[in-house]
Amino acid sequence: MDTQVGIVGAGPAGLLLAHLLGRAGIDCVVLEARSRDYVEQRVRAGVLEQGTVDVLTETGVGDRLQREGMVHHGIELRFGGEGHRIAMSELTGGRAITVYGQQEVVKDLIAARLDAGGPLEFEAGATEIDPSGGVVRYGDGGELRCAIVAGCDGFHGVARAAVPEAALTVYEREYPFAWLGILARAAPSSEELIYTHHERGFALHSMRSHEVTRNYLQVAPDEDVEAWPDERIWEELQTRMALADGSFTLDEGEIFEKGIAPMRSFVAEPMRHDRLFLAGDAAHIVPATGAKGLNLAVADVRVLARGLRAFFAHGDEAGLDAYSERCLRRVWRVQHFSWWMTQMLHRTGGDPFEAQLQRSQLDYVVRSRAAATSLAENYVGTELEDA
Ligand code: FAD
Ligand code: DHB
Repeated sequence: MDTQVGIVGAGPAGLLLAHLLGRAGIDCVVLEARSRDYVEQRVRAGVLEQGTVDVLTETGVGDRLQREGMVHHGIELRFGGEGHRIAMSELTGGRAITVYGQQEVVKDLIAARLDAGGPLEFEAGATEIDPSGGVVRYGDGGELRCAIVAGCDGFHGVARAAVPEAALTVYEREYPFAWLGILARAAPSSEELIYTHHERGFALHSMRSHEVTRNYLQVAPDEDVEAWPDERIWEELQTRMALADGSFTLDEGEIFEKGIAPMRSFVAEPMRHDRLFLAGDAAHIVPATGAKGLNLAVADVRVLARGLRAFFAHGDEAGLDAYSERCLRRVWRVQHFSWWMTQMLHRTGGDPFEAQLQRSQLDYVVRSRAAATSLAENYVGTELEDA
């Protein structure tokens, strides 16, 4: 045996798992297909649930997050040219979310791993995994033998494909739209995130700091990013986010990152096959509207780390046996929430009946304390023990 746990993929799931196992004295090796620079610059999500912030802070990788992260106690839903605040913290007994870029989390976890002297191999992509033998082949002829393999290699990785097709049940939905996301050197135009429903399509105003904003636009699924010069993006954002009384203007600035992400719901069950455990995007994808992808990856590896601690400390397999079921309960709650937010906020082809239903849902969510509480408690995220 070369190592106790072979971890495939150095995204948030793989890196946090390595960090949690390292602290428990469990030996692991992380293999990542891309370079360090590439994974540290890859721009993705930005909303951390309370539970995600807590685990990073409690395990010693939250210093920069505590300094630079922006704590938010509410979000705005904007529709019909009016804004409505959902007072998340007030509705959830004080829970909040923190805005802090995914690549910053990745940088902090890589630094912690390297400081601890743990093996983390970049440009060492896994090519083949044997779930029964616990073998990972990687790079040009490398081979890693492990008691347990953690497949944390994202949606397009090799881990899920290593499970025999007949052993997996897949649930999937593709949406007829994508998100065009930008980062711009501009001050946020609101203290809180704004989720906007508009007849031309969804728009989202988010941020990374007091100087950088992150904005998203609903676009066609096959949209070419070249069709979106900067002026067109700003014009479309201003149109969709405008308030009826004319009091809102989005601050504009130099766009230094632009990309299109598809919207998909996907679950592969079970999340374990023999010695191979799938975690994060390798097992499931949620549409980004609920801001859950990263948080779900974190929840998976917390459950897995707990199971592995009991297994390596006293050969107790109960936690590992319960891994898939425990994770999937949260996965499906989050799948529903992400689907619900997505169908409520996006333009779905101009069907007038559907548009009226969306408006009715939005009206209800902002008028009913019960409905707003439901949104808020899903958005801030439930405690790990509850799910
Ligand atoms: P990943 O972050 O995908 O990490 C997997 C890692 O494995 C990668 O570093 C990859 O290079 C590596 N890898 C792949 N194949 C191999 C291999 N064969 N061998 C070794 N390593 C391999 N969520 C939101 O909530 N909001 C957003 O705005 C948002 N935007 C997104 C935009 C894009 C383009 C994508 C793809 C996702 C987005 N997400 C968003 C989702 C969120 O970023 C993911 O849920 C999160 O990254 C999951 O973490 P992970 O560690 O499971 O997977
Ligand atoms: C961000 C991303 C999301 O998917 C979301 O729902 C809210 C914010 C962001 O990147 O800031």
